[in-house]
Amino acid sequence: ETEEGEEDHRKIYRYFTDLVSTFPCEPGVSSLLLYRYNGWYASLPSMVGIMAAGRHFKARPSDVLLATLPKSGTTWLKSLLFATVHRKLYAVDDDSRHPFTFHNPHECVPFLEYQVYVDNRIPNLDAIPSPRLFATHMPFQLLPKSVTDSGCRIVYLSREPKDNFTSLWHFSNNLREKEKIEPWSLGEAVDYFCNGVSPFGPYWDHLLGYWTAQSEQPEKVLFLKYEEMRKDPLGNVKKLAEFVGNPFTPEEEEGSIIDGIVKLCGFESLRDLEVNKSGKTELVFGSVENKLFFRRGVAGDWVNHLTPEMARRIDQTTESKLRGHRLTF
Ligand code: A3P
Repeated sequence: ETEEGEEDHRKIYRYFTDLVSTFPCEPGVSSLLLYRYNGWYASLPSMVGIMAAGRHFKARPSDVLLATLPKSGTTWLKSLLFATVHRKLYAVDDDSRHPFTFHNPHECVPFLEYQVYVDNRIPNLDAIPSPRLFATHMPFQLLPKSVTDSGCRIVYLSREPKDNFTSLWHFSNNLREKEKIEPWSLGEAVDYFCNGVSPFGPYWDHLLGYWTAQSEQPEKVLFLKYEEMRKDPLGNVKKLAEFVGNPFTPEEEEGSIIDGIVKLCGFESLRDLEVNKSGKTELVFGSVENKLFFRRGVAGDWVNHLTPEMARRIDQTTESKLRGHRLTF
């Protein structure tokens, strides 16, 4: 990058930052407010990242984009996809060399708006060999136009609303504790969530954007569910490999590699790696301890936290928002 290029990039970020600052905003999960743009909520740096990516990201048809809402199992999906796609390059049974031994999955598959289009940078991504893997929390409707134009594949991972909320609430209070601000009461958090105010929310609209996209273009968009992956990780990894055009060969199916991928990416296995116990990942909103990405990793943990009334409130919102869409949890 030349000096001049950097100056231009700074101007672009300045322009988007000034623009987003004029949007209405609401309290967010951390000290960062959530700004509202076209009906969607995101923190200021994320919104600026979305805009910078929208203007500059050039998708290739061979790219794979992982899309999720925060806390729906992004770390897991990143690890499964990376391990699967790069299984020839990095043997999944060779701990001493596998990238996961040294890097959290978030460093292996970067978020466009949290890691790629950040810090006034418009990076040149041309040198990355295909298939390039990127992740995003953007709603389908805000994806860079080049993503839909290129026809690159999108894998979406969804999670049961009450569990997703519960995970988000825990994560939020971890961030708040670090920032030494008041914890978020569950009741207040449920209110905001159900009113659509959550990072990259409204939660249900985010789901429906990708759900509709998959029904319209099933060969381009794969819609997965955390709970189903929990029940049948092997079947879902096979589905994932086929979808991205890198299916397991009959020999691989007979061998132990699929099992190896599932084990390598298993909750305990990743959580217990030193890099995930003591390391950190730099995201645009701050430096996040890797251990915060691994809490319990089960389906149904909401029962241990939500009152029946809170659960009902979320269920009713889910029912009314998803009615008529044949999407259930
Ligand atoms: P819980 O808070 O319910 O435990 P994200 O990766 O999108 O930030 O989502 C984090 C959630 O995924 C957390 O949920 C976390 O424990 C869970 N998770 C992380 N790694 C996982 C894995 N390898 N397998 C299953 N769940 C995982």
